[in-house]
Amino acid sequence: MAADPASLLRAVPDPDDEVTGDDVVADLRALDMKAKQEAYHDWEAKSYEEKFSISYDERCIEYARDRFRKVVPEGAGFGSVLEVGAGTGFFLINLALGGCLEGAELAATDISQGMLEVCARNGAEHGLDIATRQGDAEALPYEDDSVDLVIGHAFIHHLPVPGAAIREMHRVLKPGGTLVIAGEPTELGDKLSWMVKRNTYRAFRAVTAVPGLTTLRKPSLRERGASATDQALAALEHEVDLHTFRPKDVEHLARLVGFREVAVVTEELTANWFGWAVRTIEGSTREGVLGARWAFAAYHGYLRLHRFDDEVLARIVPPPLFYNLILHARKPYRPV
Ligand SMILES: C[S@@+](CC[C@H](N)C(=O)[O-])C[C@H]1O[C@@H](n2cnc3c(N)ncnc32)[C@H](O)[C@@H]1O
Repeated sequence: MAADPASLLRAVPDPDDEVTGDDVVADLRALDMKAKQEAYHDWEAKSYEEKFSISYDERCIEYARDRFRKVVPEGAGFGSVLEVGAGTGFFLINLALGGCLEGAELAATDISQGMLEVCARNGAEHGLDIATRQGDAEALPYEDDSVDLVIGHAFIHHLPVPGAAIREMHRVLKPGGTLVIAGEPTELGDKLSWMVKRNTYRAFRAVTAVPGLTTLRKPSLRERGASATDQALAALEHEVDLHTFRPKDVEHLARLVGFREVAVVTEELTANWFGWAVRTIEGSTREGVLGARWAFAAYHGYLRLHRFDDEVLARIVPPPLFYNLILHARKPYRPV
C-alpha cells in the first residue's frame, strides 16, 4: 500500500524533527505512480504558473483559443464542459475568457487537490464559477453520458494507462459529445526537443562557467536552503512524464474505445525548439536577471516561429515530427 502523500508533505523536517532527508526520499520512492503524481503536482501547484508563464490575458487566451479552433469550428456551442487533468485551469479558463465556451457550465477534475484549489481561485478571480472534483482520469468521478464537451491539455502523458482515460472520457460524454485533448508530446517531436533542451543547458553551463558569469546561475534548491522534502518532491519531476505518442496510435486508441470523427493534428516545430530553449535558460538563470525585454523578445520570437511552422513548414515537414498533438473526437449517438 502506498504511503499517504499528504503525510509526506506534513513531514517537513526541521532540526528537532526526527524525520531525516533520507526517510523522506525513501517514502517518496515507495509511492505508486498515481500517488507520486498527486504528491508532485500538489507540491508544484504553488509555482506551476510562474514556471510555465501561465496568465489569463490575451497572450494565453490566444494560445488556448488557437489550439481549440484548430479542431472545433467557430459557432459550436456546449451546455457543459469538463476539463480533465485541469491543473490550475490554464486551458479551461483561457478558453472561457476567449469566448469558446459561452454559456457552458464549467467543471474541472485533477488528481491534485492543490492544483484544483488554484484552479477554482483563478476561475473566481475571472468571474467564472468552476465546479472542481478531485479524481483520477482513469476512473473519472462523473456519471455516464453527462457532459457535452470534455477537454484536456498536457496531461495524458502523465497517466500510467492513457487509453483507460480516453475510455473514461468517452463514458462521461453525452452521445454526440465532443472530446478535445491538446498539448500532448509526440514521440519524435519530444526526441528533437530533448536535444534542444540538453544542448541549450550545456551551452548555458559552459558560458556561465566563465569567471564573473557564474553569478548568473540560479542557485539550486539546496543552495536556497530548501527542505529535504522539497528537494525530494522536486526530483519527482523526472519521474512523472510517462509517455510520448505516435499520432496514429492516439487516433487508433480513440476509435477503439468507440469515438468517431477522430482527427489528430500536430503543430509546433521551430516554435517548440525556441520555446524549450527559452524555458531552459529561464529555469537556469538567477531571478531578476532576464527582465521584461527578454520576456517581450521571447514571446514575439515564439509567435513568429509559430506562424512560420503553420504557414510554411506544415506543408513540407511530416506531421509526426511536430511536437504538439491535438486530438478531436466525437462520441456517436449510437454505440459502435
Ligand atoms: C502538466 S500538468 C497540466 C495541467 C493543465 N492541464 C495545463 O495545461 O496547465 C498535468 C496535470 O495532470 C494531472 N494528473 C496527473 N495524473 C493524473 C491522473 N491520474 N488523473 C487526473 N489528473 C492527473 C496533474 O495533477 C497535473 O495537474
